[in-house]
Amino acid sequence: MDFNANADYAIAARGVRKTYGGAGKSPPKEALKGIDILVKRGSIFGLLGPNGAGKSTFINILAGLVNKTAGEISVWGFDIDRNPRQARAALGIVPQEINMEVFFTPLEGMEIQAGLYGVPKSQRRSMEILKALGLDDKANAYVRQLSGGMKRRLLVAKAMVHSPPILILDEPTAGVDIELRKQLWEYVVKLHEQGVTIVLTTHYLEEAQELCEEIAIINHGEVVACEPTEKLISSLDRKTLMVTPNEEIAAAPDLGPLSADLKPDGNLAIHYQPSETRVAEILERLNAAGVSVKDLTTLEADLEDVFLELTYHKTA
Ligand SMILES: Nc1ncnc2c1ncn2[C@@H]1O[C@H](COP(=O)(O)OP(=O)(O)OP(=O)(O)O)[C@@H](O)[C@H]1O
Ligand SMILES: [Mg+2]
Repeated sequence: MDFNANADYAIAARGVRKTYGGAGKSPPKEALKGIDILVKRGSIFGLLGPNGAGKSTFINILAGLVNKTAGEISVWGFDIDRNPRQARAALGIVPQEINMEVFFTPLEGMEIQAGLYGVPKSQRRSMEILKALGLDDKANAYVRQLSGGMKRRLLVAKAMVHSPPILILDEPTAGVDIELRKQLWEYVVKLHEQGVTIVLTTHYLEEAQELCEEIAIINHGEVVACEPTEKLISSLDRKTLMVTPNEEIAAAPDLGPLSADLKPDGNLAIHYQPSETRVAEILERLNAAGVSVKDLTTLEADLEDVFLELTYHKTA
């Protein structure tokens, strides 16, 4: 990795460690074990990992809510230790925990936040942002009257008051219904099109696969993969050939080294490694086993397969 060109990256983190001090009977916890993460400017970057992997710890370090134990991080070219103010100003952060002032209305909350960031009154766009997140009709309601999903969208709105070049979303769609999730992602994609760099964590792998250009997978405080999404998926070297036989078959045929499952719908699922086996060879084996093929499709592995492969078995 090239760390000399920090200014080319929205976020460049090197060797980041975090050990939480133990309290009472709980021992110290090494939540991040020296991770490197580079987020390109203008990209949508996904930070994935199972519960407790260290995602929020990393984001909270960026937000200045948690002090790192070691390592270096630059945000938009500013070192977070040497230029904390500039680094912070480049970030809009939506934390995982909903913790907000409930005595203000969303509009008041937006204005207060804008004030904290020193946004001049003439440049404030509070209503416009609330509208983009479908909260304009709640602008003057009490925050405690908002539903959980609305509160989460209000957090996104607040994170954008100072028009930061980077928006970080920690589990933005947890507890948000399908319709509003779509709306939230539309907003995020619009920001991305305007040039905002997006970093998000999510447990919805389908969303990550669809939205993120690059993905880092964290497991037990270590980065186990960090690649463009497509590359990550093709790196698994696993595909499935779905075959519809011409005539109904009673049992999966013997295809030598290849395994085949007979599905309840009568289709055959044949798993293979594209680097080892060509589709032509599979067809020959089917032919030899007396199965004639009516139709076939290949299925790529998806992000979920990659995720499970990289995180499931490796319990440290
Ligand atoms: N304040 C804290 N004090 C002690 N340990 C903590 C603290 N915050 C987090 N941890 C521990 O650090 C590890 C990483 O937690 P973190 O919240 O970063 O995980 P995560 O990847 O965000 O998980 P999730 O998907 O559940 O949000 C966990 O083992 C957690 O218990
Ligand atoms: Mg978390």
